[in-house]
Amino acid sequence: MTQQEDKAPVPRNKDNKCSGPFKISDNPPHYVSAVEYTDIPEMVRVINLDKDIYNGTASFQYPYLESHARTRLENAFIRDNQSGYTSCWAMRSSPDGQMIGWIHAHFLPEDSGTRVHPESGRELKVGAIGYWVSPEHTGKGHASRAARWVVQEYLFKERGSDIVRAEAYTHNVPSRKVLEAAGMECEVEEWTVFIPKLQKKMVICCYAIHWDDATRSVVTDKTRDP
Ligand SMILES: CC(C)(COP(=O)(O)OP(=O)(O)OC[C@H]1O[C@@H](n2cnc3c(N)ncnc32)[C@H](O)[C@@H]1OP(=O)(O)O)[C@@H](O)C(=O)NCCC(=O)NCCS
Repeated sequence: MTQQEDKAPVPRNKDNKCSGPFKISDNPPHYVSAVEYTDIPEMVRVINLDKDIYNGTASFQYPYLESHARTRLENAFIRDNQSGYTSCWAMRSSPDGQMIGWIHAHFLPEDSGTRVHPESGRELKVGAIGYWVSPEHTGKGHASRAARWVVQEYLFKERGSDIVRAEAYTHNVPSRKVLEAAGMECEVEEWTVFIPKLQKKMVICCYAIHWDDATRSVVTDKTRDP
């Protein structure tokens, strides 16, 4: 047992808002609920099935270890317990079922204080999302539905975001369709950026959706790291 595994993990506060389960489709049955430490074995199994999720994202390691998943959840729970809101959900086919996909939301700290609402002058709140679906469950609308729910119900209505952003590799057509299904529009079609885990440059695209038209002039800041 490593020193990290030896320590009791930071618990998720069950009272955190927006933990679910929320039913977001009847057919196929589709629920989202807070990710739990008990999801770790399935997370690790799915992410290691093949390189689909590794290839589609900028962040995952391969192979993906239990310690990676545990650190990811622990960091999320520390932040969630402070904010009082869940921010990482498992997609499931029943309220307590096995995880079939993952979706998370966060706020972009780079924008805080540097950008203001063009009409009211107050600081903008800019959310972002990321997701994956097990290759065994893709092509059934799970990512599109979950992304729509997180953008509309969570980031806009519950958290009061002004803008929600997301990025995908330009060639990742399924992911781009997910963002479009969530109501987002492509703001930057091609941006060549260095991806540390690949140690090479890749072309990404940037999508956004705005709560009101007044912020449409606030576009992706290409001077910062994506
Ligand atoms: C991208 C991903 C999340 C899509 O999940 P999903 O649940 O299959 O998405 P949906 O079923 O909502 O499908 C979205 C669209 O992509 C299409 N699609 C899904 N899988 C596809 C595939 N393998 N090839 C081509 N199109 C595909 C669907 O037909 C749908 O298109 P439509 O809107 O025209 O009907 C999933 O493939 C995945 O986890 N990929 C690896 C990780 C990744 O890329 N994450 C996103 C990082 S930005």
